[in-house]
Amino acid sequence: MRSTAVKLVDVSASAESVGKKTLLHLITCGSVDDGKSTLLGRLLQETDSLPQDELERLTDDSRKFGTQGNATDFALLSDGLSAERQQGITIDVAYRFFSTTTRKFVVADTPGHEQYTRNMVSGAASADAALLLVDARNGLSKQSLRHSYLVGLLGVRHLVLAVNKMDLVSYSETVFNQIVETFQQYAKNAGIDVITAVPVSALHGDNITERSANMPWYHGSTILSCLETLPVEPEAARELPFRMAVQWVNRPNMDFRGYAGTVSSGEVRSGDTVRIQPSGKPATVDKIVTADGDLELAVAGQSITLTMTEEIDVSRGDVISTTDEPASTADQFECSIIWMDESAMLAGRPYVMKIGTQQTGATITDIKHEINVTTLEQTAAKQLEQNAIGICNLSTDRQIAFDAFKDNRDTGGFILIDKLTNQTVGIGMLNFALRRSDNIHMQAVDVDKGARSELKSQKACILWFTGLSGAGKSTIANIVERKLAKQGRHTYLLDGDNVRHGLNKDLGFTDADRVENIRRIGEVAGLMVDSGLIVLSAFISPFRSERQMARNLVDDDEFLEVYVETPLSIAEERDPKGLYKKARRGELKNFTGIDSPYEPPETPEILVNTASHTAEQAAERVILELRKKGIIGESD
Ligand code: ADX
Repeated sequence: MRSTAVKLVDVSASAESVGKKTLLHLITCGSVDDGKSTLLGRLLQETDSLPQDELERLTDDSRKFGTQGNATDFALLSDGLSAERQQGITIDVAYRFFSTTTRKFVVADTPGHEQYTRNMVSGAASADAALLLVDARNGLSKQSLRHSYLVGLLGVRHLVLAVNKMDLVSYSETVFNQIVETFQQYAKNAGIDVITAVPVSALHGDNITERSANMPWYHGSTILSCLETLPVEPEAARELPFRMAVQWVNRPNMDFRGYAGTVSSGEVRSGDTVRIQPSGKPATVDKIVTADGDLELAVAGQSITLTMTEEIDVSRGDVISTTDEPASTADQFECSIIWMDESAMLAGRPYVMKIGTQQTGATITDIKHEINVTTLEQTAAKQLEQNAIGICNLSTDRQIAFDAFKDNRDTGGFILIDKLTNQTVGIGMLNFALRRSDNIHMQAVDVDKGARSELKSQKACILWFTGLSGAGKSTIANIVERKLAKQGRHTYLLDGDNVRHGLNKDLGFTDADRVENIRRIGEVAGLMVDSGLIVLSAFISPFRSERQMARNLVDDDEFLEVYVETPLSIAEERDPKGLYKKARRGELKNFTGIDSPYEPPETPEILVNTASHTAEQAAERVILELRKKGIIGESD
């Protein structure tokens, strides 16, 4: 069950639309060889086309938001992807439209190959049903299994299995039954709920729009009548508990305060008590305001503004829920993730998470396993490559309101965005909350950072040295620490080579391990700042993301990034540990600057160049900067 709201649909369940045609969003799976285009062609040929103006509107909306005109909720995905499309990243989803006397259809026709997973995901995120084609002669291909797994994962619960080219297997009932049985077994394990299997010949028109005389043993419906009777989103969504994500707070004057959004599931009446999540505050609905006047009742799919009788604090991103079955709140989850970015997903790296209208920082804390979509086997994984699907633990920076994705597609589906590139890099489905942090609360302490710093007569901070191996980070940090110690400052130097002998001795130099290395150092440095120390850290810390993460762990003025800049050629010439030579000989893999990237800081607080300056000069420069920033006194 799920509830993606569809704005461009005549909401079938709402009173004013009774008698109007419903709209079904369909995604086709399978490959051209299986007869996808022939079947689609026939459906288009034997049904009505849409009036020109409607066609234009639907085409436009489909292009803009996947198949969906509503920019909220899970459609964020299509939204995000469509932004990328505008940036010239190819997302090729062809949309086709047709209509019958009872229903209109939007078909997302996506290519089947693995490299087109993005397209498929974009089309499936808002589909009501999937039409999977298989060639009766070959049975289920790897491609069709992959496709059906993905649509199942994305919450498309109804699947129509068209076993095609029945004419080429003498319309054999046995062949049909065998394919259906195999598929049913797979579908059960893949979480696809409802399957309707139809034996067809797209070429000859058997069981497409009319019953076939060639298969008297088949008593089910044709493809078209099957598609005409499947439930569509708004109908299903209305059965779910009430949810509305607040898109914006509408406050035109002091007397009016309304919360605008689209009802994503269930219904709401004026006078209802509701609960605002994640805060859990109760409230009573006063008015349901729309552009066409006030309503007594609003249902899934409608855009409304709610006013409350109480003065309460509601902000964008909050989810207004029923009180009997409110959205849950948590900050630790198990989730399924489809990774879509070229650079692999790394556990420990912070991403931006959008779920409904909520936005927060989020980190994958653990990849439990990756799923092989053909065999459904679970394999161990340290990172998720592009198009991989994994079951992961996720931690959000704050409590969020949510439902399990299986219960509600809008409040359980999310996207992950890369903080630096702003690209949608992953799509996820929340499975359940992990209760691990529920009983752990931040303990208030009497002696705090300010008190500890004061005792030491200094301002605590982190001097985060970054740069290539051999740039001189440790040497400079060492001189700076000596100078500070001489002035009676309380310091601690965290150094890459040393920490990797203890706390981080389990970590190597893959991207995933470097992320974890810096995450731990960031946390340790944060604790040390809290203890009032001036912390110096000297790690290559090659990725901007993790340096940003470390920065975020302390206050704004407590993090000073010191970029120790040296051209690779000079670092390589120095090669104090002989590691560059080893790396060039291929004996050392993933060496920074050789076969592992270094992302230089864009706006470091302090920049020192060790090609043109000595370590002593560089250290002096750092001390000067500390004085300027008031971290140490002018007289020091
Ligand atoms: S980081 O990338 O995770 O920040 P870190 O600073 O802890 O690296 O460790 C870098 C030190 O490890 C280097 O100075 C070098 O002595 C050693 N080292 C060993 N293998 C590598 C490698 N593949 N890449 C970079 N440094 C390496």
